[in-house]
Amino acid sequence: MTDTEMEAKKTADGRGLRRLVPPLLAWYGRQRRAFPWREEPTPYRIWVSEIMLQQTRIEAALPYFERFMAALPTVAALAGAEEDRLMKLWEGLGYYSRARNLQKAAKVIVAEYGGELPASYERLLALPGIGEYTAGAIASIAFGLPVPAVDGNVLRVCARLLDDEGDITRAPVKKRLRDAVCAMLPPESPGDFNQAVMELGETVCLPNTVPLCGECPLRGGCLGRQAGRPERLPVRSEKKARRVERRTVLIVLAAGRVLLRRRGAKGLLAGLWELPSAEGWLTPEEAAAVAAGWGAEPWKAEPAGEGKHIFSHIEWHMQGVRLDTPPFDPPAGFRWADGRQLREETALPSAFRAYSSRLSAWLREPDAG
Ligand code: ADE
Repeated sequence: MTDTEMEAKKTADGRGLRRLVPPLLAWYGRQRRAFPWREEPTPYRIWVSEIMLQQTRIEAALPYFERFMAALPTVAALAGAEEDRLMKLWEGLGYYSRARNLQKAAKVIVAEYGGELPASYERLLALPGIGEYTAGAIASIAFGLPVPAVDGNVLRVCARLLDDEGDITRAPVKKRLRDAVCAMLPPESPGDFNQAVMELGETVCLPNTVPLCGECPLRGGCLGRQAGRPERLPVRSEKKARRVERRTVLIVLAAGRVLLRRRGAKGLLAGLWELPSAEGWLTPEEAAAVAAGWGAEPWKAEPAGEGKHIFSHIEWHMQGVRLDTPPFDPPAGFRWADGRQLREETALPSAFRAYSSRLSAWLREPDAG
């Protein structure tokens, strides 16, 4: 234990935080939700679930988790999966770099650890895509190691518990809340403790609304509640506004197939196949001219509706244009896809969801003759 952790332990003990642990664990024993990774908490399953849950609600992640585990049941299977198959399993979850990092880490785990995740916080932390939170979650839940797993839920619960009015986007504030969690962490059940605090944050100590203090096992010791209006916490500095990008999505159709373009290896939606788009809102005629640059000879160009997608830092405000053309050999980085390929093989990012139902109506089914 470091000096600061010792210090935090003393003050936490002084504040009586430790006595809140038994009622918290008892509450978790009664209230814990039965998730598939909890019923069979192998290191691989815990890892994949924690990565999925990072930017995705639990209910939304559940079917993805089951499908992922059925398709890639081991670290070795994940390491050896075809990239397009992996992207297809992730389609709709967004933040595709999470899936790529999962696979990168799986390759390291196969090469260096014989296909088993290492039972060490530091070694987990050294793997691609695994930060402090995820390393802590895997180490504590799957291996029973006494380390904290501090996500946004835990920061909120802790800030309210301690009535800490510091800005949780600042590192020193995060650190002191993390130290308080360390001080409470029971060495005999770190996984249950970490999950209990997260669960409390997700189901009782709710964000952006009045928390359900009447149901909280920590209410007797909660300084935020005693001070009044715990929902004012945590304090968080304003996020920078997202940049708005206007784009024109070119839906180039030829003989029942649609033209796709592979995105660059870096940046937003890296390496994924997309509906090609151009900056700005173009008229159908301007869009036809862009497509002509790729080899199309559109005989029809008409508006195909608006779409909007919000990424973490950027918003796309899209206008679609449908362009019908005779078939042509697409340039490098482009390809054609029919309805089946789009459904079964190629992950089209959810950013284009506004166009996907229209698109499936427009595409040919190869088996339909
Ligand atoms: N949210 C993300 N991971 C979780 C976990 N292990 N338990 C409860 N909620 C979570």
